Amino acid sequence: MAATGRARPRARLVGVGAYVPDRVLTNADLEKMVDTSDEWIVSRTGIRERHIAADDQATTDLAAAAVRDLLQRTGTDPGDIDLLIVATTTPDYVFPPCAPLVATMTGMDCPAAFDTNAVCSGFMYGIAQATGMVESGIARRAVVVGAETLSRIIDWDDRATCVLFADGAGAVLIEADEGQPGTGVIGVELGSDGAGRSDLCVPAGGSRAPITGDTPHTDTCIHMNGREVFRFATRILVESSQRLLGEAGMTIDDVDLLVAHQANERILHHASERMGIAPDKVAMNLDRVGNTSSASIPLALADALDSGQLQEGAMVLMVGFGAGLTWGSVLVRWEPRS
Ligand code: UT7
Repeated sequence: MAATGRARPRARLVGVGAYVPDRVLTNADLEKMVDTSDEWIVSRTGIRERHIAADDQATTDLAAAAVRDLLQRTGTDPGDIDLLIVATTTPDYVFPPCAPLVATMTGMDCPAAFDTNAVCSGFMYGIAQATGMVESGIARRAVVVGAETLSRIIDWDDRATCVLFADGAGAVLIEADEGQPGTGVIGVELGSDGAGRSDLCVPAGGSRAPITGDTPHTDTCIHMNGREVFRFATRILVESSQRLLGEAGMTIDDVDLLVAHQANERILHHASERMGIAPDKVAMNLDRVGNTSSASIPLALADALDSGQLQEGAMVLMVGFGAGLTWGSVLVRWEPRS
């Protein structure tokens, strides 16, 4: 008897949406708040300005705005979404998670909805989860959001961190498709190293150090060993990309666009030079949005689409890295819904 196996669905990435709050904080504004300079911030990071949420905006407000933009751009009915994943490290509450709230805010019809937290790699982990669930048949149409209000966990007196982090949200739509191999999400590479946990962390507010009346405010904010994280980031960006490309039987020459976590322009320059990818194939918007953790990759993807840098059929390599330490890469062919 002949085998009649049904082709396994493939996860196809068909659209992107984005949102940043209206309020812009420039380097000149920061010069008035801490002992820093536009010259230092631009030369060491590449950041010129960033967006900060209004007092009455929480992470779900930013996430919902990005999802609405995605649904509008792709002409998608919110009732057709059956899976929503929100990657965030700054949720509205300890619980409930953001995703069910965002689903209701955007008119979805009771989809599977949960949060995922791998900090700046969170969006890559979210895409991996959505891909697995779509390809196994659990979901057919998934939205993955990266959303952050990092301004709420920044120590605004710490010049080493307050010039870097910011707020924003981005989202992608992933659909089941009967496409051929070489289409859709082509591969994923994820990893972690908890030995680096203290290099980038918020010390208090979890079960190990609950916040009490004696907790210093600074312990509820981002602490970072910048030099150590810089070394890790430049190394892992290259290694994770090379592992993923190797598994896919490709080289960097097959990549049309690198969309890496927008942490620091120097990290992107060092890594892309070592990988041998031309600067015009590297997405870069951190000068305008700063480091938005899990929102950073979808925001850069949306920016590349709007500027014409991202073209239909492009082979896109996305790479996230950050606290944990964690990292993740996703290789995908950009096939927008026409
Ligand atoms: O999203 C998660 C991933 N995060 C990252 O990838 C961040 C990785 N790290 C970095 O991007 C860089 O390490 C930073 C941008 C955070 C710092 O740049 P750096 O070139 O590594 O600076 P540094 O920490 O070695 O500090 C150099 C000097 C120090 O002064 P001294 O000790 O040399 O006198 C700092 O106190 O720069 C000083 N400094 C500043 N000066 C003016 C630190 N922050 C500032 C500032 N303005 N904002």
